[in-house]
Order: sequence, then structure tokens, then C-alpha cells
Amino acid sequence: MLTRNDAALDFLLSRRSRPAKTLVAPAPSRAELRPLLTAAARTPDHGKLEPWRFIVVEKGAMARLAQLTEEAGERLGKPAEEIAKGRSQFDLGQLAVVVVEIQKDSPKVPALEMTYSAGAVCLALLNAALAAGWGANWLSGWMSHDRGFCEAAFDLAPHERIAGLIHIATEGAVPPDRPRPDLDALTTWVDA
Ligand SMILES: Cc1cc2nc3c(=O)[nH]c(=O)nc-3n(C[C@H](O)[C@H](O)[C@H](O)COP(=O)(O)O)c2cc1C
Repeated sequence: MLTRNDAALDFLLSRRSRPAKTLVAPAPSRAELRPLLTAAARTPDHGKLEPWRFIVVEKGAMARLAQLTEEAGERLGKPAEEIAKGRSQFDLGQLAVVVVEIQKDSPKVPALEMTYSAGAVCLALLNAALAAGWGANWLSGWMSHDRGFCEAAFDLAPHERIAGLIHIATEGAVPPDRPRPDLDALTTWVDA
């Protein structure tokens, strides 16, 4: 029997991200991260395909990823500011979970639904981290869409791609909330 969970509703009505650049140490330990990953893996998934997996990037790996971002940016001919902005998420990062979308063969589940499910995993992980009292932010960045970076950094297979990098650590500053969508402008009610 479902019962009303006001605390959960209040959380969902007020949740907001904490910008990755404002996050500080400590990051969650492996033991602290496990229930958050478990919550994220409890995400709707048509056909039980589990079209996603996690790569946990700990502090010790951040410098390598920053360097690979630099190299990818030079290969792509990106301006210095873009390279610097791209690598900053690793230069400043404490911990990030890479949510990897895996495209699986399925006669009944369209590829796009696997993409949706991977995106839902990102939000579930973000919300689990915020609900647990961590600061968290869903980032991508140009390097996350670059095959060369994805293969060098995370050894992704051709049928895999990055759905998001969820940075999780301690809140360093509380950002002002941003304007939220006008519900009436985006909702159509159909009763016939
Ligand atoms: C797929 C995706 C990628 C994103 N990538 C970035 C990014 O690279 N840099 C950034 O500043 N914000 C990025 N954002 C936006 C933030 O994660 C977030 O939406 C924003 O800070 C407000 O979040 P809130 O509604 O939880 O407060 C991205 C969001 C999504 C959904």
C-alpha cells in the first residue's frame, strides 16, 4: 500500500544542483557511494536490459583525465579557453561518476529508450546524492562527446557513450535557485 511521503515530495519540490566548481573535499567514500549507486540503478529500464554502467572517477584519476582533455582539445583545435574550461571539471573534481549508456541489441526496445533510461539514471544518482546531503552536479563537457577521449579515458566500446558525469562531494556554497519553468506554459491537459 503506497503511503504519502511528504519528506520525499518536499525534497523533489526544492532540490537543486550545487555547481561542480563549488564542491570541496571530502567526497563520499566507496561505502557511502554504494547506496547512491544502488538507488540510481533502480531506474526504469524497458526490457530489463540494464543499458548503463558506472565508472567511478576518484581523486587520484583526475589529473590523468585533465591531461587527456588537454590532448583531446589540442587534437580538435579548440581554443585555449575552451580547453581550460573543459579540463577544469577534472582539475577541480573530487569524485565523479561517469554514467555510461550501453546500446544493447533488442528486438523490442528502441535505441532511444535506452538513451532515456541512461539519462534517468543520471538524474536518479544526482537526486540520491543531494538527498544524502552531498553537493552534486550533472556535467557533460565537449570531451564527453569525443570518441578519442572516451576511449583513452574510460576504454569505452563502440556501442557505449557517456550519458553524464555526476560530480559528488561536499557543498562549498549554496547557489541561488535559478528561475524554474512556468508549469502552465509547458502543460497541456487532455480530458476528452
Ligand atoms: C545532459 C546534461 C549535461 C549538462 N552539462 C553541463 C555542463 O557541462 N556544464 C554545466 O555548467 N551544466 C551542465 N548541465 C546543467 C546542470 O547539470 C544543471 O542542469 C544546472 O546546474 C541546474 O540544475 P538543477 O535543476 O538541479 O538546479 C547539464 C545538464 C544536463 C541535463
